[in-house]
Amino acid sequence: MQAAIYPGTFDPLTLGHLDVIERASRIFERLIVAVGVNATKETLFSIEDRLAMVREVVKDHPHVEVDAFDGLLVDYCKQKGVYALIRGLRAFSDFEYEFQMALTNRKLAPDVETIFLMPKETHSYISSSMVREIAGMRGDIEEFVPPVVQAALEKRLQKRVE
Ligand code: COA
Repeated sequence: MQAAIYPGTFDPLTLGHLDVIERASRIFERLIVAVGVNATKETLFSIEDRLAMVREVVKDHPHVEVDAFDGLLVDYCKQKGVYALIRGLRAFSDFEYEFQMALTNRKLAPDVETIFLMPKETHSYISSSMVREIAGMRGDIEEFVPPVVQAALEKRLQKRVE
């Protein structure tokens, strides 16, 4: 298997995302973690901050690249010449959204295939919005995110208080 793209908003990246990255990087020779600029979601972190966090977290994974993308995901796939998309499936509740996205992408670009990986069960309930909420209420997020993300969240939320 040559290359795959793992797209997401990563606002912020969690241990669940990292688990999917590690699984995919064992299957594919090259993995591009594509951070969406995503005009449809209001993000806590800027695209620059999200990119910097993901880069720091995957810096010891030699086959993993980090890039930003804007516009249609399938156009980005074509631009990169990569036709495998990775998405994580955590629970049944993810299915409908992922099903819709995978089939829409297939309609837009039949040669792009979506591959689903299941993160470790201990990470299957984590979501970025839950992490943001807990951090915002000064709860402990150590078990949910890598240390660099924890530090960035604390700094970002501190800035909001000031
Ligand atoms: N571990 C933890 N959380 C996970 C996860 C995992 N393995 N997999 C998904 N999630 C969670 C995230 O935490 C996030 O939670 P939240 O909504 O509560 O904050 C949610 O699932 C989705 O986030 P993420 O995985 O970052 O991806 P996304 O769904 O925001 O990304 C894009 C969507 C960017 C891939 C999609 O919007 C896109 O392709 N946009 C480009 C425009 C386009 O082509 N549109 C047509 C496509 S149909």
